[in-house]
Amino acid sequence: MRVLSGIQPSGQLHLGNYFGSIRPNLEYAQKAGSSFYFVADLHALTTIHDPEELRRLRLDTVLDYLACGFDPEKSVLYFQSDVPFHAELAWILSTVTPMGLLERAVSYKEKVEKGIAASVGLFAYPVLMAADILLYAADLVPVGKDQKQHLEMARDIAVKFNRAYGETLVVPEPLIRAEVAVVPGADGQKMSKSYGNIIPLFGSEEAVKKAVMGIVTDSKGVNDPKDPDTCVIFQIHKLFLDDGGRKTLAAEYRGGLAYGEAKKRLLQTVFDHFAPMRKRRDDLKKNMRYVEQIMSEGAKKAGIIALETMERVRQATGLR
Ligand code: ADP
Ligand code: TRP
Repeated sequence: MRVLSGIQPSGQLHLGNYFGSIRPNLEYAQKAGSSFYFVADLHALTTIHDPEELRRLRLDTVLDYLACGFDPEKSVLYFQSDVPFHAELAWILSTVTPMGLLERAVSYKEKVEKGIAASVGLFAYPVLMAADILLYAADLVPVGKDQKQHLEMARDIAVKFNRAYGETLVVPEPLIRAEVAVVPGADGQKMSKSYGNIIPLFGSEEAVKKAVMGIVTDSKGVNDPKDPDTCVIFQIHKLFLDDGGRKTLAAEYRGGLAYGEAKKRLLQTVFDHFAPMRKRRDDLKKNMRYVEQIMSEGAKKAGIIALETMERVRQATGLR
Protein backbone atom coordinates (compact mmCIF):
# COMPACT_ATOMS: atom_id res chain seq x y z
CA MET A 1 0.00 0.00 0.00
CA ARG A 2 1.25 3.45 -0.89
CA VAL A 3 0.21 6.44 1.20
CA LEU A 4 0.69 10.05 0.12
CA SER A 5 -0.25 13.42 1.49
CA GLY A 6 0.56 17.06 0.89
CA ILE A 7 1.12 19.51 3.69
CA GLN A 8 0.39 23.19 3.26
CA PRO A 9 3.20 25.28 4.74
CA SER A 10 0.90 27.55 6.65
CA GLY A 11 2.36 28.61 9.98
CA GLN A 12 2.72 27.61 13.57
CA LEU A 13 1.62 24.06 14.33
CA HIS A 14 -0.98 23.64 17.03
CA LEU A 15 -2.57 20.83 19.02
CA GLY A 16 -5.41 20.60 16.48
CA ASN A 17 -2.94 19.93 13.65
CA TYR A 18 -1.03 17.47 15.81
CA PHE A 19 -3.94 15.31 16.94
CA GLY A 20 -6.05 15.84 13.81
CA SER A 21 -3.39 15.35 11.17
CA ILE A 22 0.20 14.69 12.23
CA ARG A 23 -0.35 11.83 14.63
CA PRO A 24 -2.70 9.88 12.35
CA ASN A 25 -0.29 10.42 9.45
CA LEU A 26 2.60 9.13 11.53
CA GLU A 27 0.55 6.00 12.13
CA TYR A 28 -0.23 5.60 8.42
CA ALA A 29 3.44 6.05 7.58
CA GLN A 30 4.32 3.28 10.04
CA LYS A 31 1.83 0.86 8.51
CA ALA A 32 2.25 1.63 4.80
CA GLY A 33 4.66 -0.19 2.53
CA SER A 34 5.75 3.17 1.17
CA SER A 35 4.77 6.69 2.09
CA PHE A 36 5.21 10.09 0.48
CA TYR A 37 4.81 13.38 2.32
CA PHE A 38 5.51 16.61 0.51
CA VAL A 39 5.39 20.29 1.39
CA ALA A 40 2.89 21.77 -1.05
CA ASP A 41 4.90 24.90 -1.78
CA LEU A 42 3.50 25.35 -5.30
CA HIS A 43 0.03 25.31 -3.81
CA ALA A 44 1.17 27.83 -1.19
CA LEU A 45 1.96 30.29 -3.99
CA THR A 46 -1.78 30.66 -4.53
CA THR A 47 -1.98 32.53 -1.22
CA ILE A 48 1.56 33.63 -0.27
CA HIS A 49 3.31 36.22 -2.41
CA ASP A 50 6.05 37.20 0.01
CA PRO A 51 9.25 35.26 -0.87
CA GLU A 52 10.76 35.60 2.61
CA GLU A 53 7.60 34.32 4.20
CA LEU A 54 7.34 31.34 1.86
CA ARG A 55 11.02 30.47 2.39
CA ARG A 56 10.56 30.54 6.16
CA LEU A 57 7.27 28.62 6.15
CA ARG A 58 8.45 25.80 3.92
CA LEU A 59 11.49 25.18 6.12
CA ASP A 60 9.48 25.52 9.33
CA THR A 61 7.09 22.91 8.03
CA VAL A 62 9.88 20.44 7.37
CA LEU A 63 11.40 21.05 10.80
CA ASP A 64 8.01 20.59 12.44
CA TYR A 65 7.33 17.31 10.69
CA LEU A 66 10.78 15.88 11.28
CA ALA A 67 10.61 16.94 14.92
CA CYS A 68 7.24 15.22 15.33
CA GLY A 69 8.76 11.95 14.20
CA PHE A 70 8.49 11.57 10.43
CA ASP A 71 11.35 9.28 9.59
CA PRO A 72 13.15 10.07 6.33
CA GLU A 73 14.34 6.43 6.18
CA LYS A 74 10.74 5.23 6.09
CA SER A 75 8.89 8.04 4.32
CA VAL A 76 9.89 10.02 1.28
CA LEU A 77 9.84 13.69 2.33
CA TYR A 78 10.20 16.38 -0.33
CA PHE A 79 9.23 19.80 -1.58
CA GLN A 80 6.61 19.67 -4.32
CA SER A 81 8.51 22.26 -6.34
CA ASP A 82 11.66 20.07 -6.31
CA VAL A 83 9.86 17.52 -8.50
CA PRO A 84 9.01 19.48 -11.66
CA PHE A 85 6.73 16.69 -12.92
CA HIS A 86 3.96 17.96 -10.63
CA ALA A 87 3.68 21.15 -12.65
CA GLU A 88 4.09 19.33 -15.97
CA LEU A 89 1.38 16.78 -15.25
CA ALA A 90 -0.90 19.51 -13.86
CA TRP A 91 -0.69 21.33 -17.20
CA ILE A 92 -1.51 18.21 -19.17
CA LEU A 93 -4.39 17.34 -16.85
CA SER A 94 -5.75 20.86 -17.14
CA THR A 95 -6.34 20.22 -20.84
CA VAL A 96 -8.77 17.37 -20.07
CA THR A 97 -10.39 19.01 -17.02
CA PRO A 98 -13.75 20.59 -17.77
CA MET A 99 -14.19 24.16 -16.52
CA GLY A 100 -17.50 23.07 -15.01
CA LEU A 101 -15.75 20.60 -12.72
CA LEU A 102 -13.56 23.32 -11.21
CA GLU A 103 -16.42 25.79 -11.06
CA ARG A 104 -18.08 23.50 -8.53
CA ALA A 105 -15.12 23.66 -6.13
CA VAL A 106 -16.32 24.85 -2.74
CA SER A 107 -12.87 25.69 -1.41
CA TYR A 108 -12.18 28.08 -4.32
CA LYS A 109 -15.39 29.98 -3.59
CA GLU A 110 -14.64 30.09 0.12
CA LYS A 111 -11.13 31.38 -0.44
CA VAL A 112 -12.31 34.11 -2.81
CA GLU A 113 -15.00 35.09 -0.30
CA LYS A 114 -12.27 35.40 2.32
CA GLY A 115 -10.52 37.92 0.08
CA ILE A 116 -7.84 35.76 -1.56
CA ALA A 117 -7.17 36.96 -5.12
CA ALA A 118 -9.06 34.88 -7.69
CA SER A 119 -6.04 33.87 -9.79
CA VAL A 120 -5.98 31.16 -12.45
CA GLY A 121 -3.69 29.21 -10.08
CA LEU A 122 -6.21 29.37 -7.24
CA PHE A 123 -8.92 28.19 -9.64
CA ALA A 124 -6.74 25.35 -10.94
CA TYR A 125 -5.58 24.33 -7.45
CA PRO A 126 -7.46 20.98 -7.64
CA VAL A 127 -5.74 20.11 -10.93
CA LEU A 128 -2.30 20.47 -9.35
CA MET A 129 -3.53 18.41 -6.43
CA ALA A 130 -4.73 15.71 -8.84
CA ALA A 131 -1.25 15.69 -10.42
CA ASP A 132 0.35 15.35 -6.95
CA ILE A 133 -1.65 12.21 -6.34
CA LEU A 134 -1.75 10.62 -9.81
CA LEU A 135 2.02 10.87 -10.32
CA TYR A 136 2.55 8.38 -7.50
CA ALA A 137 -0.50 6.13 -8.02
CA ALA A 138 -1.24 6.51 -4.33
CA ASP A 139 -3.70 4.06 -2.76
CA LEU A 140 -4.35 6.03 0.36
CA VAL A 141 -4.49 9.81 0.58
CA PRO A 142 -5.21 10.75 4.18
CA VAL A 143 -6.68 14.23 4.37
CA GLY A 144 -9.25 15.99 6.47
CA LYS A 145 -12.82 16.19 5.24
CA ASP A 146 -12.32 19.72 3.89
CA GLN A 147 -10.23 18.08 1.14
CA LYS A 148 -12.80 15.42 0.22
CA GLN A 149 -14.07 17.30 -2.83
CA HIS A 150 -10.52 17.79 -4.08
CA LEU A 151 -9.92 14.04 -3.88
CA GLU A 152 -13.09 13.33 -5.81
CA MET A 153 -11.91 15.76 -8.45
CA ALA A 154 -8.59 13.93 -8.70
CA ARG A 155 -10.56 10.77 -9.43
CA ASP A 156 -12.74 12.51 -12.02
CA ILE A 157 -9.71 13.99 -13.73
CA ALA A 158 -7.95 10.60 -13.89
CA VAL A 159 -11.08 9.05 -15.43
CA LYS A 160 -11.28 11.86 -18.02
CA PHE A 161 -7.65 11.39 -18.94
CA ASN A 162 -8.01 7.62 -19.31
CA ARG A 163 -11.12 8.06 -21.40
CA ALA A 164 -9.27 10.39 -23.76
CA TYR A 165 -5.99 8.47 -23.96
CA GLY A 166 -6.60 4.89 -22.75
CA GLU A 167 -5.80 3.37 -19.36
CA THR A 168 -2.73 5.32 -18.29
CA LEU A 169 -3.35 6.71 -14.83
CA VAL A 170 -4.31 4.68 -11.80
CA VAL A 171 -7.64 6.02 -10.58
CA PRO A 172 -7.08 6.57 -6.86
CA GLU A 173 -9.43 5.03 -4.33
CA PRO A 174 -8.68 7.52 -1.63
CA LEU A 175 -9.80 6.72 1.86
CA ILE A 176 -10.98 9.87 3.52
CA ARG A 177 -9.51 9.74 6.97
CA ALA A 178 -11.89 8.39 9.57
CA GLU A 179 -13.50 11.21 11.50
CA VAL A 180 -10.96 12.74 13.83
CA ALA A 181 -12.43 14.56 16.75
CA VAL A 182 -12.28 18.31 16.40
CA VAL A 183 -9.78 19.63 18.92
CA PRO A 184 -11.22 22.68 20.69
CA GLY A 185 -9.15 25.83 21.11
CA ALA A 186 -8.74 27.96 24.23
CA ASP A 187 -12.12 29.62 23.61
CA GLY A 188 -13.97 26.34 23.04
CA GLN A 189 -14.41 26.81 19.25
CA LYS A 190 -12.45 24.58 16.83
CA MET A 191 -8.75 25.24 17.34
CA SER A 192 -7.57 27.13 14.27
CA LYS A 193 -4.97 29.70 13.28
CA SER A 194 -7.78 31.76 11.80
CA TYR A 195 -9.54 32.00 15.17
CA GLY A 196 -6.46 33.03 17.18
CA ASN A 197 -7.22 30.37 19.80
CA ILE A 198 -4.34 27.97 19.28
CA ILE A 199 -2.09 26.15 21.71
CA PRO A 200 1.17 25.97 19.76
CA LEU A 201 3.42 22.91 19.77
CA PHE A 202 6.70 24.71 19.42
CA GLY A 203 5.86 28.21 20.60
CA SER A 204 7.85 29.81 23.42
CA GLU A 205 7.12 28.40 26.88
CA GLU A 206 5.39 31.67 27.77
CA ALA A 207 3.15 31.45 24.71
CA VAL A 208 2.13 27.87 25.54
CA LYS A 209 1.52 28.82 29.16
CA LYS A 210 -0.54 31.85 28.22
CA ALA A 211 -2.69 29.79 25.87
CA VAL A 212 -3.32 26.99 28.39
CA MET A 213 -3.96 29.33 31.33
CA GLY A 214 -6.37 31.29 29.11
CA ILE A 215 -8.68 28.34 28.38
CA VAL A 216 -12.29 29.34 29.06
CA THR A 217 -14.11 27.69 31.96
CA ASP A 218 -17.55 28.09 33.48
CA SER A 219 -18.09 29.81 36.82
CA LYS A 220 -18.14 26.73 39.08
CA GLY A 221 -16.49 27.22 42.46
CA VAL A 222 -13.05 25.87 43.29
CA ASN A 223 -14.27 22.70 45.02
CA ASP A 224 -17.52 22.18 43.06
CA PRO A 225 -17.87 19.02 40.96
CA LYS A 226 -16.95 19.73 37.32
CA ASP A 227 -18.37 18.11 34.19
CA PRO A 228 -15.46 16.72 32.15
CA ASP A 229 -17.68 16.32 29.06
CA THR A 230 -18.27 20.04 28.76
CA CYS A 231 -14.91 21.23 30.12
CA VAL A 232 -12.50 22.44 27.43
CA ILE A 233 -9.46 21.74 29.64
CA PHE A 234 -10.47 18.10 29.94
CA GLN A 235 -11.38 17.80 26.25
CA ILE A 236 -7.83 18.82 25.38
CA HIS A 237 -6.11 16.91 28.20
CA LYS A 238 -7.80 13.62 27.32
CA LEU A 239 -6.09 13.57 23.91
CA PHE A 240 -2.82 12.84 25.68
CA LEU A 241 -4.23 9.99 27.80
CA ASP A 242 -5.16 6.36 27.33
CA ASP A 243 -8.56 5.03 28.42
CA GLY A 244 -7.47 4.38 31.99
CA GLY A 245 -5.89 7.83 32.34
CA ARG A 246 -9.04 9.45 30.96
CA LYS A 247 -11.28 7.69 33.43
CA THR A 248 -9.11 8.61 36.39
CA LEU A 249 -8.87 12.26 35.35
CA ALA A 250 -12.62 12.49 34.64
CA ALA A 251 -13.31 11.15 38.14
CA GLU A 252 -11.10 13.86 39.61
CA TYR A 253 -13.05 16.55 37.72
CA ARG A 254 -16.30 15.13 39.06
CA GLY A 255 -14.76 15.09 42.54
CA GLY A 256 -14.10 18.85 42.39
CA LEU A 257 -10.65 19.36 40.84
CA ALA A 258 -10.07 23.13 40.71
CA TYR A 259 -9.81 24.61 37.19
CA GLY A 260 -6.53 26.34 38.11
CA GLU A 261 -5.00 23.02 39.13
CA ALA A 262 -6.47 21.28 36.07
CA LYS A 263 -4.80 23.84 33.80
CA LYS A 264 -1.45 23.45 35.56
CA ARG A 265 -1.60 19.72 35.01
CA LEU A 266 -2.51 20.13 31.35
CA LEU A 267 0.35 22.58 30.90
CA GLN A 268 2.79 20.11 32.43
CA THR A 269 1.44 17.36 30.18
CA VAL A 270 1.87 19.52 27.08
CA PHE A 271 5.45 20.42 28.04
CA ASP A 272 6.36 16.82 28.88
CA HIS A 273 4.80 15.41 25.73
CA PHE A 274 6.46 17.81 23.33
CA ALA A 275 9.81 18.27 25.16
CA PRO A 276 11.64 15.58 23.15
CA MET A 277 10.20 16.93 19.89
CA ARG A 278 11.11 20.48 20.83
CA LYS A 279 14.67 19.32 21.51
CA ARG A 280 14.82 17.45 18.20
CA ARG A 281 13.54 20.54 16.42
CA ASP A 282 16.20 22.74 18.03
CA ASP A 283 18.90 20.21 17.11
CA LEU A 284 17.70 20.00 13.51
CA LYS A 285 17.62 23.76 13.23
CA LYS A 286 21.31 23.83 14.09
CA ASN A 287 21.96 21.31 11.36
CA MET A 288 20.16 22.68 8.32
CA ARG A 289 22.64 20.98 5.99
CA TYR A 290 21.28 17.65 7.14
CA VAL A 291 17.69 18.84 6.64
CA GLU A 292 18.49 20.05 3.13
CA GLN A 293 20.08 16.70 2.37
CA ILE A 294 16.95 14.85 3.52
CA MET A 295 14.84 17.00 1.23
CA SER A 296 17.08 16.66 -1.77
CA GLU A 297 17.27 12.87 -1.37
CA GLY A 298 13.50 12.80 -0.95
CA ALA A 299 13.08 14.75 -4.20
CA LYS A 300 15.34 12.30 -6.01
CA LYS A 301 13.40 9.27 -4.77
CA ALA A 302 10.06 10.89 -5.54
CA GLY A 303 11.30 12.00 -8.96
CA ILE A 304 12.12 8.42 -9.97
CA ILE A 305 8.55 7.25 -9.30
CA ALA A 306 6.98 10.38 -10.79
CA LEU A 307 9.02 10.06 -13.98
CA GLU A 308 7.65 6.57 -14.61
CA THR A 309 4.14 7.99 -14.68
CA MET A 310 5.25 11.00 -16.67
CA GLU A 311 6.76 8.82 -19.37
CA ARG A 312 3.52 6.89 -19.74
CA VAL A 313 1.61 10.17 -19.94
CA ARG A 314 3.98 11.66 -22.54
CA GLN A 315 3.65 8.53 -24.68
CA ALA A 316 -0.11 8.40 -24.29
CA THR A 317 -0.61 12.03 -25.29
CA GLY A 318 1.82 12.03 -28.21
CA LEU A 319 4.38 14.26 -26.56
CA ARG A 320 6.84 11.42 -27.26
P1 ADP B 1 -5.90 25.85 10.63
O1 ADP B 1 -7.39 25.63 10.83
O2 ADP B 1 -5.21 26.21 11.90
O3 ADP B 1 -5.59 26.81 9.48
P2 ADP B 1 -5.12 23.82 8.77
O4 ADP B 1 -6.37 23.99 7.99
O5 ADP B 1 -3.81 24.27 8.20
O6 ADP B 1 -5.32 24.45 10.23
O7 ADP B 1 -5.02 22.30 9.23
C1 ADP B 1 -4.19 21.32 8.71
C2 ADP B 1 -4.80 20.00 9.10
O8 ADP B 1 -4.83 19.88 10.56
C3 ADP B 1 -6.27 19.88 8.66
O9 ADP B 1 -6.41 19.25 7.44
C4 ADP B 1 -6.91 19.07 9.75
O10 ADP B 1 -6.79 17.69 9.42
C5 ADP B 1 -6.06 19.30 10.99
N1 ADP B 1 -6.72 20.20 11.96
C6 ADP B 1 -6.62 21.54 12.04
N2 ADP B 1 -7.30 22.04 13.08
C7 ADP B 1 -7.87 20.98 13.72
C8 ADP B 1 -8.68 20.81 14.89
N3 ADP B 1 -9.03 21.86 15.64
N4 ADP B 1 -9.07 19.57 15.22
C9 ADP B 1 -8.69 18.49 14.49
N5 ADP B 1 -7.91 18.56 13.39
C10 ADP B 1 -7.49 19.79 12.99
N1 TRP C 1 -4.78 20.82 -0.48
C1 TRP C 1 -4.23 20.11 0.67
C2 TRP C 1 -4.56 20.93 1.95
O1 TRP C 1 -4.87 22.09 1.87
C3 TRP C 1 -2.74 19.97 0.54
C4 TRP C 1 -2.40 19.08 -0.62
C5 TRP C 1 -1.84 19.49 -1.81
C6 TRP C 1 -2.60 17.69 -0.73
N2 TRP C 1 -1.67 18.42 -2.63
C7 TRP C 1 -2.11 17.31 -2.01
C8 TRP C 1 -3.13 16.73 0.14
C9 TRP C 1 -2.18 15.98 -2.44
C10 TRP C 1 -3.17 15.41 -0.30
C11 TRP C 1 -2.70 15.03 -1.57
O2 TRP C 1 -4.46 20.38 3.03
